[in-house]
This record gives sequence, C-alpha cells and structure tokens, in this order.
Amino acid sequence: MKIEEITLEKMDVKKFIEDKINEIAQTVGSGTAINALSGGVDSSVVTMLGHRALGDKLKTYFVENGLMRHNEPQQIATKFKELGVGIEIVDAKEEFFGALKGVVDPEQKREAITQTFYKNVFGKLVKKSGAKHLLHGTIYTDIEETVAGIKRQHNIFAQIGIDPQESFGYNILEPLLQLRKPAVRKLAEALGLPAEIYNRPPFPGPALAARVIGEVTPKRVQIVRRATSIVEEELSSSGAFQYLAILHEDMVTGVREGKRDFGHQIEIRCWESTDARTGSPTRLSYDLLDKLADRITSEIPGVVSVTYNITRKPPSTIEAV
Ligand code: XMP
Repeated sequence: MKIEEITLEKMDVKKFIEDKINEIAQTVGSGTAINALSGGVDSSVVTMLGHRALGDKLKTYFVENGLMRHNEPQQIATKFKELGVGIEIVDAKEEFFGALKGVVDPEQKREAITQTFYKNVFGKLVKKSGAKHLLHGTIYTDIEETVAGIKRQHNIFAQIGIDPQESFGYNILEPLLQLRKPAVRKLAEALGLPAEIYNRPPFPGPALAARVIGEVTPKRVQIVRRATSIVEEELSSSGAFQYLAILHEDMVTGVREGKRDFGHQIEIRCWESTDARTGSPTRLSYDLLDKLADRITSEIPGVVSVTYNITRKPPSTIEAV
C-alpha cells in the first residue's frame, strides 16, 4: 500500500484532528483500545487523539523501564492527568535490568530493550487487556527508514509476539502514518499539549541505556541520570538541537582532598542539527563548559572526569550506543 505523505504546509490541522478522531471512534466502535505512552511527541499525540475519540475506552500505559530521566514517568503521567487523561505507570524495571544484565554490545543492548518492551511487557499488557485495537505512533519517516533498511522492520504484531494469522482480530491504528515530525509537533500544539512536549528535544527509544557504555546497571544509570539533569539544566537555553551526557566504561585516576580517587568519566555532547542525520558540536563557551565540569564532578559522587565531544556526525553518531 502506498502511503501518501501530508506535509506540514498541506495539512489542515483542525480537519486532520477531526478526521482521525472520527476514524478511531468508528473503528473501535463499542470495543476498547490500548496504547503505550513514552512522553515523546508521537506517542503523546496518539494518546490525545485516542482519548478524544474514545475517552475511558482507551487504556494508556507508561512503561517504567528504569532507564528514563529523573522523575520522567511521574512528570509525564501528571501532565496528562492535568489534561484529563489517566495514565497507568507499569513498573517493569526488574524485567529491563534483568534483560540487560551482563550485556555490553551496543546492538545487543538495543535488542534486549526492544524485546523486553514488546514481548515481555507491552505484548503481555495487550493480551491481558483483551483490547483488540492498538494505537501506535508510527510516522512517515519510520516507514521510509524501514523501506531503506535503516531501521528494523516496523511490524508491531511481530514485535509484540502476536502472530496476526493466529490472532486474527487484532487491529493496529496508526493515525500519524502520513506525517513527519514537524507536522506531528504542530498537531501536538493544536491538541493542547504543553510546549515541553511539542518542543521536546529528541530522546532515544532505549532511553539512558543509549548513553551508558558498557553494562547498564541501576547504579550506572543513576550516574548518567544525574549528569543528564545537570546537562539539561545548563544547556536547555543553548538553542542546540540535542544535548546529552554519556557514562564511559573506563575509569580514570583522579584526586580528591589530596587522595587518589579512581572514578567515572562523563562525556558531554551538544549538537547542532536539523534532522539528526548529520550534526556538528555546538561552540559552547568555555565558561559554560567549566561550570558543567564543576557541577558534574562536585554533585555526582565518584565522577572525576568530564570531557566535551568535538566530533561531527558522521563519523560520530548523536548517541553513544
Ligand atoms: P544517532 O545516535 O543514530 O541518533 O545519531 C539519531 C537521532 O535518533 C535518536 N535515536 C533514537 N530515537 N529510537 C528513537 O526513537 C532509537 O532507538 C534511537 N536511537 C537514537 C537520537 O537521540 C538522535 O536524535
């Protein structure tokens, strides 16, 4: 099936919202639907459209994988509650850390997270809920990347461990399939979502695990989480496309209060980019870099080194994993 793109310029926002709400309401009818919210702009827009179309007949879950930023699950759930949308947070930290135990290879880490999310956690919720309709935030770019072989096949049925042949009757609704990110951001604004959501800088699916080199343990995620909070606080006004902290695997010798302190290394990246396909490092002021190094080493126990990455993408990538 050929999917026709609707560009930002061509989109009639009000009509698009009305049409999608009607489509979802008609398809689901008297049944129920389910979706997973991550707080990213795509899943947030799908949640709002689904909620407007179905009200309580839509069950929305936030999967707490233990890899999100400080208080992120609670903050997202609270924001949606303020908008009148109930979100259930599902604690799946043990499943994710269990699957990540001992895994150091970047692709295996990503695979472990994908499998845990779709098969072990969300797949089970779908089956348990009895809902036959699933709302998903796939966008036009995802399809393009699948066709180009850049990303794994976007086949939600297979990902949630459901054989459509066997379980005929499941229906996946993808209301954003014809849109790219700028159009989705526009919809988010029109649907009354707050600016932190429609202007949210990109955040990777594997969350902070994409920023931990080496084994992803609760302790190591906590270090990168604290560094992320500092980096986001200091760089949110920089106007950069994306900024992040990475925890290195190697430890280095430092000195604290006159004593040797063998500790962790944090790398900061701050990117100028328009679409994440290429990027260059932001020319941050030395004073700002100095402040970041001071805060990270004094506020996070065990961190003795902070570096700033000056590489372009390519050959670097935005994330480390
Ligand atoms: P890379 O690291 O490949 O990242 O240069 C390009 C952009 O994509 C984001 N990213 C992801 N987004 N799922 C996502 O939804 C993922 O698995 C994923 N990995 C990377 C990254 O933050 C950057 O904006």
